[in-house]
Amino acid sequence: MGHAEQQNLFDLPMHSPLQKKTAAHSARSGTFTDNMKLPVHRWFRYSAGFSASWVESVLKDHNATAVLDPFVGSGTVCVASDKLGIPSYGIEAHPFVFRLGQGKLSWGEDIVDFEAAIAKLTATAEKIRESVSLSEANSLIVKCYSENSLRDLYSVKAAYLKLTPEWTASINALVFLAINSILRATSHVGTAQWQYVLPNKTKARVTSPYEALKLQAKMMMDDMRVMQNESEISNAILLPADSRTLEGVPDKSIDLVITSPPYANNYDYADATRLEMSFWGEIGNWGDLHGAVRQYLICSSSQHASKDKMKLPELLADPAIDPIKVELTKVCNELDVIRKTKGGNKAYHLMIVAYFADMAKTFQALRRVTKAGATLCLVIGDSAPYGVHAPVERWFGELALANGFKSWSFEKIRDRNVKWKNRKHTVLLHEGRLWIKG
Ligand SMILES: C[S@@+](CC[C@H](N)C(=O)[O-])C[C@H]1O[C@@H](n2cnc3c(N)ncnc32)[C@H](O)[C@@H]1O
Repeated sequence: MGHAEQQNLFDLPMHSPLQKKTAAHSARSGTFTDNMKLPVHRWFRYSAGFSASWVESVLKDHNATAVLDPFVGSGTVCVASDKLGIPSYGIEAHPFVFRLGQGKLSWGEDIVDFEAAIAKLTATAEKIRESVSLSEANSLIVKCYSENSLRDLYSVKAAYLKLTPEWTASINALVFLAINSILRATSHVGTAQWQYVLPNKTKARVTSPYEALKLQAKMMMDDMRVMQNESEISNAILLPADSRTLEGVPDKSIDLVITSPPYANNYDYADATRLEMSFWGEIGNWGDLHGAVRQYLICSSSQHASKDKMKLPELLADPAIDPIKVELTKVCNELDVIRKTKGGNKAYHLMIVAYFADMAKTFQALRRVTKAGATLCLVIGDSAPYGVHAPVERWFGELALANGFKSWSFEKIRDRNVKWKNRKHTVLLHEGRLWIKG
């Protein structure tokens, strides 16, 4: 299990072919591939998902009555909780990913209504296909689709926008998810089901958009049937909120937290949906991702850490990091020196402080919403920007204790950074489960 795709991406230029290649490779070996065989989980392949079967086993072991995932992503924890009939909260700050999660958690919707919605969508799309304008496509979209495919896809998009007022929120969420789920399969360029798009690579097999949509909708209906046989309705509450405040989650209501926060490893979650957000016209170019997404997320990549906006003295003065301040400052100072010797001069020294401050606030918020005696399990990995190691599990453990939890222990799952021929540093990293109790 775990986040094979949350590998150490440091020291590779962002968007370099090498970074894309290694990332795509690690995504394939990642255990979220297990989820791609499971009903509902397989509706959208999101990077950094963890194994749903493992989540289910933790849920069963703990006899949980109320579960929370403060970084719910595509909703694995909530779907697994639904399957076992356990109420859950899922928090996601990435606005687009939140909408995809809403689609998955609409599995309890009337199947006949969904089927009718897809039939009307397709019929409307076919009718307006020839008159649809392709001029709004940004350069990424133009590179990713043939004119024929784009005409199909834009006709589906126009039909969706036309029909959306007729549908319930759940039908809308299902149809929106179905359309997004076909965008990569219908592109002829390399669109690894990972974050980056590779316009210079071509795919051997490309499905036509109308056909892909039909197949996706059928698979979703099959899965809805399976889920509805196990459980009547979704007991999940998905909130477009922030892990640092957990607004909307009542005080002392949660007895089990299962989550997998972003690692401080330069993975850019905003970029993960660049293709999809470009398709809907929500962003024009890469630069728009900051305003549209990144500003809402915890700081986990150098893309977040703007040298102009973030001021080191202010970051270090944040009382949230006090429990680890001495060690963190040492790492930060070391990074500040090293970065000046590197061509990229990445602001990892700012990123690392902001990351732990964000996570400290998350532990504070988690203490507010958890019952006494609660269990928290975080799937985490440590990191070494520019080869400077940050002992993530110990620092998280200390932040958790400082915020009122009673104990922590770390269960290693695997080593990382052992086989990277291209690596620029040789710090051995690992990944595992941080168990926090109390
Ligand atoms: C490792 S992924 C979780 C994937 C998830 N386990 C799944 O099954 O899809 C981390 C998620 O945290 C989200 N995130 C980042 N900052 C956040 C914040 N401040 N509050 C809530 N979610 C946040 C990211 O957008 C990303 O979807």
